[in-house]
Amino acid sequence: MQISPSGQACGAEVTGVDLTSPLADETVASIRTAWLEHHVLSFPNQAMSDDDLERFTLSFGDFGNDPFFDPIEGRRHIAAIRRDANETSPLFAENWHSDWSFQARPPAGTCLLGITIPPVGGDTLFANQHAALDAMPPDMRAEYDGLIAIHSAQMAYAPDGAYGDKDEGRSMAIRPDESARATQLHPLIREHPETGRLGLFSCMGYIIGFEGVAAEQALPLLQKLYAWQSRDEFVYRHQWQSEMLVMWDNRSVLHCATGGYAGHDRLLHRTTIAAHQG
Ligand code: SIN
Repeated sequence: MQISPSGQACGAEVTGVDLTSPLADETVASIRTAWLEHHVLSFPNQAMSDDDLERFTLSFGDFGNDPFFDPIEGRRHIAAIRRDANETSPLFAENWHSDWSFQARPPAGTCLLGITIPPVGGDTLFANQHAALDAMPPDMRAEYDGLIAIHSAQMAYAPDGAYGDKDEGRSMAIRPDESARATQLHPLIREHPETGRLGLFSCMGYIIGFEGVAAEQALPLLQKLYAWQSRDEFVYRHQWQSEMLVMWDNRSVLHCATGGYAGHDRLLHRTTIAAHQG
């Protein structure tokens, strides 16, 4: 197996491994080590089926719990990230986020398999949140140390949210629901559960405030933090190919979709890897 770092803030390409066959335990361990180091791994030239995607995902943990999407037909744990060539609804996930950070046990990772990839655009951006914390000036960090973030899916998936009842003409099977208004607390600065490395967890969007901080103070704090977390020096820009599998660590990075492919279809299949129990 060869691991080639992107040379950007995170990300590495992995070759010399066949993900269409079951992986030996040592191979899974090597991939996990590389994943924890680089946070985003891409595996080009993997002609994977949905069975292969599920088996690969389960090599790293249980399936996560994916609310607000219908899975693809015949599967319980695969969602389609899809946009049709003629679609005019706002892009899906064009905001920085960590997948499902509003859950009590957010998924450790996400796997995304490129199926139909447009000839231009549609890159996914990843922002390294260990690097973002490490580089934060001490006076700025003092404003955020010790804060407990309030997470919620309400701005995205409540009936009056961005993907709610007024969101028409979308090809993705998004299912808004009142349950999106639930809230969950997580420390803003926290140790990665496997590496112990400190990082910033999630961002404005799924974070809607801070415990014990008035809304009018929380909003500017969140806006300033979002601008910091997504600075160019923390970002890796991932360019897709069809038959490419990408896995990322939601505990270490934020990610964000980009457009630039109007007139072209884009389709990827997605699973999430549950957090370790314990
Ligand atoms: C996602 O956030 O799950 C999708 C990212 C993308 O479409 O590039």
